[in-house]
Amino acid sequence: MKSKYEEACDELKANPKHWLVTGVAGFIGSNLAEQLLRLGQRVTGLDNFLTGSRSNIHYLLQEAGPDARERFTFEEGDIRNIECCRDVVEGVDHILHQAALGSVPRSMKDPLTTNDINITGFLNVLIAAREKGSCSFTYAASSSTYGDHPALPKREASIGMPLSPYAVTKYVDELYAHVFAQQLGFRSRGLRYFNVFGKRQDPDGAYAAVIPRWIMKALRGETIEINGDGSTSRDFCFVENVIQANILSAMTPPAEGHEVCNIALGDRTTLLELYELIVQAVRSKGFTPRSAPVFRDFRAGDVRHSQADISRAIEVLGYSPSIRVGDGLQSTVDWYASHWLER
Ligand SMILES: NC(=O)c1ccc[n+]([C@@H]2O[C@H](COP(=O)([O-])OP(=O)(O)OC[C@H]3O[C@@H](n4cnc5c(N)ncnc54)[C@H](O)[C@@H]3O)[C@@H](O)[C@H]2O)c1
Repeated sequence: MKSKYEEACDELKANPKHWLVTGVAGFIGSNLAEQLLRLGQRVTGLDNFLTGSRSNIHYLLQEAGPDARERFTFEEGDIRNIECCRDVVEGVDHILHQAALGSVPRSMKDPLTTNDINITGFLNVLIAAREKGSCSFTYAASSSTYGDHPALPKREASIGMPLSPYAVTKYVDELYAHVFAQQLGFRSRGLRYFNVFGKRQDPDGAYAAVIPRWIMKALRGETIEINGDGSTSRDFCFVENVIQANILSAMTPPAEGHEVCNIALGDRTTLLELYELIVQAVRSKGFTPRSAPVFRDFRAGDVRHSQADISRAIEVLGYSPSIRVGDGLQSTVDWYASHWLER
């Protein structure tokens, strides 16, 4: 029997739609656009290259297949400009809003820009989408919204106080989406991503996420540093599962006006386990990573453990995260070994 996702893909292939992906030059946005193009869809992508890159667009078009370019339109623009948002929503059937300024530490250093992009920018996209009407609206929310709530696994209804400016902005987005649904009748769904990983995630710079950073260090034979004793755990989720959730969300109108769903694997991997999996995947490609990691202090403000309860996404969307962490890491390492080392 076909899964709900396979059925959704079949339907899209038979009846192609026009999608807007904001943040298309970033990690998740470029993966979303690639899969949509593979499915024969028309995609408009918006980005201002603040943290995304032209090479991500180059790779997404290269990897999406021969005629992808003809169905892809790129708009360089900023979601802080509402006219730009109004222009790009023209004619689209589905909006997958990914553009934001990510990273908790960056938001501590620059809360104002994080606020401008993640709240004002979000609101602009929401307003433009509502004015347009007749399109689905799915946006990237975040597990950071759980803040200091101690419960594990995390359930959508129980959140704590935010632990960073970034978390504040992601929660405010949910509040705006809720109010737009309650007061203005505009339906939307927020997908609370937990730690997502996969190809085209930026491995360099001060705010790089742990997985691409460690993969590149392992490929280059550099020392990997672990914050804490390695027992810290996260619900790492391969990007293909996140793509599945977005496509299912677009094809499944929310029963309530606005709802949020956790998107993760529903499992926990410790940093030490992650280290071992990366080293193994890198060895399988013929590289020789450094033999042992170096342990540093725990990072201030980091929650020790995180894990999602994904039962709402399973029930509401038919979400079925099919790719486990080990397989996702191997495919990610394969990609960095063949694409990033050559740069
Ligand atoms: N990666 C994760 O683990 C994770 C976890 C939770 C939530 N999220 C959310 O998912 C979304 C995508 O994250 P990502 O990891 O792909 O990040 P990313 O930084 O790779 O992608 C974000 C993209 O948005 C673009 N952008 C930023 N400001 C913009 C603006 N003002 N106008 C237009 N474009 C702008 C950037 O240039 C970049 O290409 C974000 O909303 C993020 O908050 C990600």
